[in-house]
Amino acid sequence: MKKIIKNGTVVTAEDIYRADILIENGKIKTIGNELNENNAEIINAKGCYVFPGGIDPHTHLDMPFAGTFTKDDFETGTIAAAYGGTTTIIDFCITEKGKSLNSAIQEWHRKADEKAVIDFGFHLMIGEVNDDVLKELPTVINEEGISSFKIFMAYKNTLQADDETLFRTLVEARKHGALVMVHAENGDVIDYLVNEAIKEGRTDPIYHALTRPPEVEGEATGRAAKLTAIANSQLYVVHVTCKEAVEEIAKARNGGFRVWGETCPQYLVLDESYLEKPDFEGAKYVWSPPLRKKHHQESLWNALKNGQLQTIGSDHAPFDFKGQKDRGIGDFTKIPNGGPSIEDRFSVLFSEGVKKGRITLNEFVSLVSTNAAKLFGMFPNKGTIAPGSDADIVIFDPNSERIISASTHHMNVDYNSLEGMKLVGEPISVLSRGEYVIRDKQFVGKPGNGRYIKRSRFQV
Ligand code: URP
Ligand code: ZN
Ligand code: ZN
Repeated sequence: MKKIIKNGTVVTAEDIYRADILIENGKIKTIGNELNENNAEIINAKGCYVFPGGIDPHTHLDMPFAGTFTKDDFETGTIAAAYGGTTTIIDFCITEKGKSLNSAIQEWHRKADEKAVIDFGFHLMIGEVNDDVLKELPTVINEEGISSFKIFMAYKNTLQADDETLFRTLVEARKHGALVMVHAENGDVIDYLVNEAIKEGRTDPIYHALTRPPEVEGEATGRAAKLTAIANSQLYVVHVTCKEAVEEIAKARNGGFRVWGETCPQYLVLDESYLEKPDFEGAKYVWSPPLRKKHHQESLWNALKNGQLQTIGSDHAPFDFKGQKDRGIGDFTKIPNGGPSIEDRFSVLFSEGVKKGRITLNEFVSLVSTNAAKLFGMFPNKGTIAPGSDADIVIFDPNSERIISASTHHMNVDYNSLEGMKLVGEPISVLSRGEYVIRDKQFVGKPGNGRYIKRSRFQV
């Protein structure tokens, strides 16, 4: 029942210090020096950092997309997340027009409840706003604990919502206390550019990127930010990839508006040239928005450092290369969009961010955990190490070296987009509410042990 973590260096968004941590009944009970307690199991964290568990605010597990489903379900996906140091995910619950919001939420519980090995919450996609939706929204927020809504400004004829829907969602979110999230790309312009490319026989994976230039992301980001200002509401821009979008977010924030942004590991370390790999391998690197030219990486790192972007989401949407991605041979529009990242999010940010001197240890914790807990109504239960918080803890060796590979990863997908990348630092043991999920790099958790998190209303 009781555990004491000894000899580690505790790192939160604010502090770095040597202390012991006493865990009791799934919570952090005491933090102090030389803690002793009868019957407590001692965990020796010598040489390790003791971080709050990672929070991944952007996953797509078991999600229908382009006539198929993402390969990881809530069991394989959350096991991989735990291996990577993540103890909480927020997954996107996809709704269908004409069906109740509640039916989609129940469907997502069927996918998740018996399978998740770590705690989880849901964001809810809004595809339309009508009287039925308006009636359900307060219940969704207050009873279901879903205080964030997702609008897709792209994926015309499938997921895309129009500006009226975005604006009305922003207004309702302000009234009831929710955060509106946007996939910000101009779907109408993309649709035009894609049709032109296909007509002209430009069908290779690289044309996925060339038909979604940074300007369409910048335009949509700026539009969403302006609609947020008019509605006096609050906005979170998911998977920001480029300078143009960062500038729009910074402009809104500098104007005093409540706008936040997330980027993902893939945009920090990969670039557009990967889509040109031979033998259709470029399809492995098809995300929307797409990978950008290398210089955009600097804008993203700067924005993480200076606080214009606040979180790192994985946008984990894995599809096998064989049998899923290869549906797009001869027509890039048929390549399912997305890639695997849930397992590597935490360590890539540590290795590329902290170890390379781009961000501090405290900024790392803010970006991979604390800021998401605050924005999405889970703080201080999640996102920090403090008396009373859930004992979601990562014991992390900052010097261990490893090479990312599909042959050793735990995600249920046949490739890793970061194959061959050398990382410094790795999670050794991971606790979820005081129980081991990963112990000495081995999974020891249980499907169904992850709890659904009813999140608080949005407040800043
Ligand atoms: O390419 C991506 N990002 N796929 C997942 C769905 C989304 O747009 O987030
Ligand atoms: Zn998206
Ligand atoms: Zn996504």
